[in-house]
Amino acid sequence: MDTRSLEGKTALVTGAASGIGLETAIAFAERGAALALCDIDESGLAAAVERIEGLGRKVVASGRVDVSKADQMEAFADSVHQRVEAVDILMNNAGVAIGGPFLATSLEDWNWILGINTLGVVHGCHFFIPKMVERGQGGHVVNVASAAGYAATSALAAYNTTKFSVVGLSEALWEELRPHSIGVTAVCPGLIDTPITRNARLVGRMDRPGRREEMIRGYQRRGYPPSRVARNILKAIEKDRLIAPISIEAWMLYYAKRFAPWLLRRLMLTTTKKTGG
Ligand SMILES: NC(=O)c1ccc[n+]([C@@H]2O[C@H](COP(=O)([O-])OP(=O)(O)OC[C@H]3O[C@@H](n4cnc5c(N)ncnc54)[C@H](O)[C@@H]3O)[C@@H](O)[C@H]2O)c1
Repeated sequence: MDTRSLEGKTALVTGAASGIGLETAIAFAERGAALALCDIDESGLAAAVERIEGLGRKVVASGRVDVSKADQMEAFADSVHQRVEAVDILMNNAGVAIGGPFLATSLEDWNWILGINTLGVVHGCHFFIPKMVERGQGGHVVNVASAAGYAATSALAAYNTTKFSVVGLSEALWEELRPHSIGVTAVCPGLIDTPITRNARLVGRMDRPGRREEMIRGYQRRGYPPSRVARNILKAIEKDRLIAPISIEAWMLYYAKRFAPWLLRRLMLTTTKKTGG
């Protein structure tokens, strides 16, 4: 899709109140798109709507929606489709994180993260893609996965599971949607400085005093802002890239996985030992 101008197009972003979702929604608006936005954070979402309207762009629908709940996503999709026949860009971005190993992850933790990171993406695809296909004018699906969608570590057992699933679904969709001229991109960022580290659940050996602050400082030192991710997402849509690693560490892990999987295993093991998870 030509992303130089998105005039006349509608982009939908889930988890648009903060971080990568917010910055990408703004980037879409700056290129002229109208937006449909949702999040569970109502005040953050209201501020996002204000910023986008401040850019002179239309917000066709916005609402407090929990992506893990099918009924809420269906109601949101209905309100979007009352205003536009279909969205042009569907960005399934809402996500949460759990840091810690499998043995420390409760079933409640699993249900929480699978509900948002995996089913949330499935719900977005389920309720929005059929209308894109029906309309017959193509479009693009952006599923926000992670470098953790191809590089696994015991420190991210549940998060890895959800992000591998997003990459897998995106690869399958890529093939299925090609005849409909709908592109699919799995966005795979590395360490991005957003509030995700503040809100992540830490379990087992990760749940120790000072670990969260250490992690937040590490992400801040890395200094990769979500606005830069947004610019790269626009490029990935433009180039119709299926897997889009973002940041140097994400690219390094991507190439290690492809060309030297044994090296990747060593690297992940050493990092886990060094940081204590
Ligand atoms: N920050 C990183 O280092 C990083 C790296 C790789 C991938 N990602 C992925 O990027 C995506 C965005 O994360 P971010 O870093 O911008 O974090 P963030 O915390 O800044 O933003 C996530 C947004 O999702 C919303 N959200 C959470 N649960 C929701 C739910 N059930 N329904 C609807 N909205 C919900 C939050 O309220 C928040 O506004 C996530 O999928 C995350 O896994 C982040």
